[in-house]
Amino acid sequence: GSSKKVQIVEVGPRDGLQNEKGAIIPVGTRIELIDRLVRAGMTVVEAGSFVSPKWVPQMAGTAEVLENIAWKRGVRYPVLVPNLRGLEDLRELFVVHPEEPSLTDEVAVFVGATDAFSRANVNCGVEEALARTAQVVEGARGMGLRVRGYVSVVVQCPYEGAVAPARVREVAKELVQMGCYEVSLGETVGRGRPHEIRALIEEVTRDVKVEMLAGHFHDTYGMGVANVLEALACGVRTVDAAVGGLGGCPYSPGATGNVATEDVVYALQGSGYDVGVIDLDALAEIGSWISAQLGRETESRVGRALQAR
Ligand code: HMG
Ligand code: MG
Repeated sequence: GSSKKVQIVEVGPRDGLQNEKGAIIPVGTRIELIDRLVRAGMTVVEAGSFVSPKWVPQMAGTAEVLENIAWKRGVRYPVLVPNLRGLEDLRELFVVHPEEPSLTDEVAVFVGATDAFSRANVNCGVEEALARTAQVVEGARGMGLRVRGYVSVVVQCPYEGAVAPARVREVAKELVQMGCYEVSLGETVGRGRPHEIRALIEEVTRDVKVEMLAGHFHDTYGMGVANVLEALACGVRTVDAAVGGLGGCPYSPGATGNVATEDVVYALQGSGYDVGVIDLDALAEIGSWISAQLGRETESRVGRALQAR
């Protein structure tokens, strides 16, 4: 696209915190994190997930998070839902709170590009994950929710190695056919490089319009910002990022968090790309604060530099 407007999807409270092993962050802190991110100018903040607490204890209490955030009109608070059971939990929440949509109006679903990763993540292979996901998408849309899809391990799989772009294209295409309005390409492992991101986007856009794609880059090898810029050069206008570079991946040993929101905002502010009104100093402060809750320093280089001034 020719528009220079870029939507940053803040995934720290979900993708970030779900993967932090050091500490389970209490619900109250998760709520404060989301509210602070919105006050800093983030307009899409993934708020949590309705997954099994046995699998992901970090995301227990997401219903309580949605009930207690300072919901702001115009801001979207998507939640990740892996199966019909998770969607039922969300449906119950709407019944308890008939003042919807002040909880959320968006669900995110996810499917891995490889069978091995899919099994590790959701206990079934890609075909079955797609079938289950189709049910979730249909149910969510029936509830009047919009649905965003993720494809995971789009460049490298921790179990199967290099992933052929054609496999990602197939999964992305199916997510769109199910009714996802957008597909986020998840570079889960964080080893992908700009030339690989370009080849991937060129392949996927044979079936999915570039306007429907988002880039989701982990920063393990320090390629996060470079990959964001490459995706933008390819015409992608939505990118996922996590404040403080929060996260990792339990099924991808050594993988670090998402590219830091601070780093993406710093790279783009003043560039001609319009990320909206975002308070970078506030983001850096939030990144340091939430990292301190986890007993460490912020992973964002921009955050550290700004905090040191
Ligand atoms: P399973 O064990 O095969 O499921 O897990 P099950 O149906 O046999 O259920 C097992 C137990 O979990 C049962 O409880 C269910 O009731 C319960 P029990 O009878 O033993 O007491 N259960 C649930 N509880 C709450 N909410 C639910 C739910 N579902 C079942 N929704 C399952 C299958 C999908 C549930 C599990 O594998 C799971 O929760 N996986 C989620 C893993 C996850 O959240 N991964 C991270 C998200 S993906 C990601 O991060 C990648 C992304 O960031 C992009 C990228 O970077 O690539 C998006
Ligand atoms: Mg991720």
